[in-house]
Amino acid sequence: MLGLTLRCEIRTNNFPLLVDHISREAAYFAIRLKELNEGKLSPAQDAIIKENVFFLRIMADHSKFIGHLLDPSERKLVEQAREFSHDFDQLLFQAIDLDSMRPQSETKPLLSQFLDQNKVSVVSLRDFKKTARELIEACRIKSNIHPLLADHTFREAERFLEIIDLFEANLNRKQSDNKTLES
Ligand SMILES: [Fe+2]
Repeated sequence: MLGLTLRCEIRTNNFPLLVDHISREAAYFAIRLKELNEGKLSPAQDAIIKENVFFLRIMADHSKFIGHLLDPSERKLVEQAREFSHDFDQLLFQAIDLDSMRPQSETKPLLSQFLDQNKVSVVSLRDFKKTARELIEACRIKSNIHPLLADHTFREAERFLEIIDLFEANLNRKQSDNKTLES
C-alpha cells in the first residue's frame, strides 16, 4: 500500500505516514502476540526505553494526523494539535538519546523520571483526544476525521498509559526489593 501510494499508483485520502503508522502498529501487534503465546504477559522490563520510543512516535504521529485532518478553520484545535506534535517529537528525541547511551544499564536511575515526564504528556494528550472524539461523534466540530480513527487514537493513548503504569509498578517493586536486601 505504501509503495503504491508513494508511486501515486493509487490515490487515497490516507497520508503515506498513516499507512506506515498502521504498518508499524501491525508489526508491533504481531510481536506482542508471539510474546503472549510464549507466556510473556507484561512487556519485558529491559524494553522500557524501546517501548517508549515506539509509543511516543505513535503519539507524535496521531497529533500530526489530527492537526492535518481538522478543518483549517478549527484554528484553536489545530494549534493545540501542533503543540502536542512538537511536545511528543521532543519526548521522542529524548527517548532516542537515552536509548543510545552506553552502557545501557547506567540509565536505570533515570528511568522513573523518564516515565513520569512521558506520563504527564500522555495524560494530557489522552484528555485532548477524548474531547476530540466526543466532539467528532456529536458532529460539533469540522474535520475529515472518521469517528473510528478518533476512537483509535484515544484508545492507543490509554494503552500507552497502562504500559507506563506497568513499568512504574515494576520499577517501584525492584526499588523496594533492593531496600529490603540492603537492610
Ligand atoms: Fe495509531
